[in-house]
Amino acid sequence: MNPQNPIGIFDSGIGGLTVYRAIRKILPLEDLIYLGDTARVPYGTKSEATVQRYARQNVEWLIQHDVKMVVVACNTASAFALNALQAEFSIPIVGVIKPGVKAAIQKTKRERIGVIGTAGTVHSEAYTQEIKKMLPNAYIVSRACPLFVPLVEEGRLSGRITDDIAKEYLSPFRKERIDTLILGCTHYPLLKPAIRKMMSAVTLIDSAEATAKETLRLLKEKRMLGSMVQKGESRIYVTDLPNGFKKVAQIFLKNSIPEVAIAEI
Ligand code: DGL
Repeated sequence: MNPQNPIGIFDSGIGGLTVYRAIRKILPLEDLIYLGDTARVPYGTKSEATVQRYARQNVEWLIQHDVKMVVVACNTASAFALNALQAEFSIPIVGVIKPGVKAAIQKTKRERIGVIGTAGTVHSEAYTQEIKKMLPNAYIVSRACPLFVPLVEEGRLSGRITDDIAKEYLSPFRKERIDTLILGCTHYPLLKPAIRKMMSAVTLIDSAEATAKETLRLLKEKRMLGSMVQKGESRIYVTDLPNGFKKVAQIFLKNSIPEVAIAEI
């Protein structure tokens, strides 16, 4: 595998751009290809078999575009499909769950950890299992927040409706005395201000940065870091280009976005 090849990143939609942004920041010279499966979002409400099929097709598409590794920038796909993808494909593939758990474990003081995510991620218990491997006595409480993804996809990052939904989902955590809350969906970091209002004394864990560090670590370990001297190129593909995509993508990237093209999968 040529180290000058791009890094592939995929998500069900726009949420993985939080991971893309973190990777772009610490690996400015690498070429990146982002694939958002906007035609089939959300993954969080779908079955394990369906998410595995979508994830496999996304990886195949990225491999056709010569990526040297894949970052699964979606918790649902990481929970349901990471092991299967790693067994099936020979290039390195990393997910977002392990890096997020490692970051949470470094932060928690009382070992009382909350996890929020899609229904698929929460029901898979991937987070609970991963936390228990590293902190067997941890108290873990998880909750699915299915309305958060459409709020983000619609760009409704603040306002009364967003606050009301955050209140509905997060009030049960208050009596649990958690000190750390994992944002177990790559869409959720965009809702941090609304989440923060409800969980003021809790450390919020966003796995984007931890996943970017893991990507860097893995590329170094495999001696696959590119030796480019110029700023890396970024390409963004989506399987459908909904109205307003670019506007919301700009909020995600806090910046102008590269050209967006359609991927046929
Ligand atoms: N961004 C995806 C995740 O991290 C969830 C969005 C979806 O339901 O497709 O789980």
